[in-house]
Amino acid sequence: MISYKMNDGNSIPALGYGTFLMSSAEVAEHLPEAIAAGYRHIDTANAYFNEVAVGKAIRESGIPREEFFVTSKLFPQSYGADVIDSEIDATLERLGLDYLDLLLLHQPYGAYTEAWKGMERAKAAGKLRSIGLSNFNRAKMQQILDVADITPQVLQIEINPRNNQHAMKEWLAPKGVVFEGWYPLGHGDKALLQMPVFTELAEKYGKSTAQIILRWHVQEQNVVFPKTNNPAHMRDNLDIFDFELTDDEMARINAIPQQPYYKVPDEAPAFVLAHNDYSQQH
Ligand SMILES: NC(=O)c1ccc[n+]([C@@H]2O[C@H](COP(=O)([O-])OP(=O)(O)OC[C@H]3O[C@@H](n4cnc5c(N)ncnc54)[C@H](OP(=O)(O)O)[C@@H]3O)[C@@H](O)[C@H]2O)c1
Repeated sequence: MISYKMNDGNSIPALGYGTFLMSSAEVAEHLPEAIAAGYRHIDTANAYFNEVAVGKAIRESGIPREEFFVTSKLFPQSYGADVIDSEIDATLERLGLDYLDLLLLHQPYGAYTEAWKGMERAKAAGKLRSIGLSNFNRAKMQQILDVADITPQVLQIEINPRNNQHAMKEWLAPKGVVFEGWYPLGHGDKALLQMPVFTELAEKYGKSTAQIILRWHVQEQNVVFPKTNNPAHMRDNLDIFDFELTDDEMARINAIPQQPYYKVPDEAPAFVLAHNDYSQQH
């Protein structure tokens, strides 16, 4: 597995397993399959309501904790200066872990600058190995950079061939921020997976179109964690390190018209404002 060096010196595996929209029961069924297939990098979040099940699968795998790279994320209800420290502790408690490899502020709303200071404290205390942001645009990222003693290690945003984020990556390049791409396969969008450029390259390399898109991500240096409940897809998604797209092929993919799947609103949408009681999971 390829890893990237983050700006704090820690390493992050290029490919992982995402758990968005997976119930605890689905995690209990499919995460052990993913771990058996070879996944060691797992992406979850407070708001996925499946951290207890994620932690249980990790512990019950019998594989040493340090072989895993585990990410979670906090929602804005947890950002206030008075709650951020205890919310980080509660996240670790739900997962049953002593430390997280990466914790992100999931949404760019509310008291995110205060939260960043709490993230920095938790990193200094060894509870978090690395820290980052998700769904922050340039202006909001700049607000974090203005107060930060620790530059974020990671920015997790939508990235796929329809939203390659080249402008954002260019802007942040001097900071050494690693980019993680959510919706790496367009959330399974068939129209993306069946684009002629991908079917043609799939034929040429004897791979699936999903594998071609994931290979594009690797060559773009995007960290991705496609979500799948299908063991064959789990194996396919890891099997992308034995071929390489040419510069011309990368350029063809990068010429795909840009059309993001989701526009992050400036103000918090209703689903973010809804009260979340993360104790309601098992
Ligand atoms: N920070 C954020 O705000 C945010 C937002 C969204 C997602 N995320 C993270 O990013 C992860 C990935 O995003 P996502 O789950 O929404 O979308 P995704 O990974 O782009 O797409 C998942 C879909 O692709 C299909 N798929 C996976 N592998 C495939 C393959 N080899 N061939 C064909 N189809 C395949 C899956 O179906 P099958 O189950 O049938 O394989 C599933 O329907 C999430 O799980 C989560 O960890 C973060």
